[in-house]
Amino acid sequence: MAKRALITGLTGQDGSYLAEHLLGLGYEVHGLVRRVAMEDPQRRFTRISHLLDKITLHPASLESYPSIFNVISRNQFDECYHLAAQSFVAESFSDGFSTMNTNINGTHYMLAALRELQPQCRFYFAGSSEMFGKVREVPQKETTPFHPRSPYGISKVAGFDLTRNYREAYDMFCASGILFNHESPRRGFEFVTRKITAAVARIKAGQQKDLRLGNLEARRDWGHAKDYVRAMHLMLQQDTPDDFVVASGGSHTVRQFCELAFGQADLDYRDYVVQDDRFYRPAEVESLIGDASKARTVLGWTPDYDFESLVKDMVSNDITTIAGSSGVASSVQTVPS
Ligand code: GDD
Repeated sequence: MAKRALITGLTGQDGSYLAEHLLGLGYEVHGLVRRVAMEDPQRRFTRISHLLDKITLHPASLESYPSIFNVISRNQFDECYHLAAQSFVAESFSDGFSTMNTNINGTHYMLAALRELQPQCRFYFAGSSEMFGKVREVPQKETTPFHPRSPYGISKVAGFDLTRNYREAYDMFCASGILFNHESPRRGFEFVTRKITAAVARIKAGQQKDLRLGNLEARRDWGHAKDYVRAMHLMLQQDTPDDFVVASGGSHTVRQFCELAFGQADLDYRDYVVQDDRFYRPAEVESLIGDASKARTVLGWTPDYDFESLVKDMVSNDITTIAGSSGVASSVQTVPS
């Protein structure tokens, strides 16, 4: 019989790639989707429109325990991937309360409902390299202490601790992935990589004059989301639940990302990038680099993309899709981002 998986955050970058991956493995895929998404499917389902006839969607909100309880009480699941969250770090400084409520309570509601109704269902929590924040060692691995630097990072540490506590207290199969930055042509426009590649496409097409960014010296370990969702699935196929860092092991500055992305379009980033104080954060995570040795050894995980092929994929996609449209992508951004 086909395994049945429940994904929260199905309409996002990771959710859409994970759904494709699981469908390819023969899974029956279900998703929790906010009712507002159902009411505005054209815009909110862009990443999963090609999957709609292959998946089952259930309206529920991470802010409502009864709605989650309802879905889990009516369907049996083998695996649950909890990806949904307010995931934009800058926004978490503007509205820390909403980020905390959604991210911490949402994770708690999922775990509590599963414990009550289906304790045998395997649970994946989307942890983040933002939990390392002001890093205590380089590179960061599973044993590196956390020092989050934003309400978002704090909410992810709480979710990680909740997940581990359900594993230890109730003997449930609960695993966390500590994923470093992962990007793709499906990345939201508020994140720096997509902000850059979308700008490259619009500048090339004469639709935009410059690109305003914050800290160009911040370093991130960037990988491709398509690679990272494979690791999520592998974590739930192990004999015992555990936590894993997923990272490329490379580190680049935002400036280097700009240089490569503009270079892909035969442009020099120095002619277009303008530093703007509005895009700096009150507390910055200056540098992240992950050590994914455990995922490579235990899970047998290896990424297909490197930094160059990731940037190439994003730029060429944006040049094809954005430059051909009428600048819709820029109009959906809520600045500052
Ligand atoms: N978004 C944004 N916009 N970031 C900028 C800008 C800008 O104009 N200018 C510089 N940056 C810097 C940020 O200060 C940060 O240091 C870096 O670019 C990356 O920012 P984001 O792309 O917004 O990602 P993030 O690192 O804060 O968080 C992402 O990765 C985490 C780890 O995987 C998010 O996807 C998180 O949800 C995720 O957990």
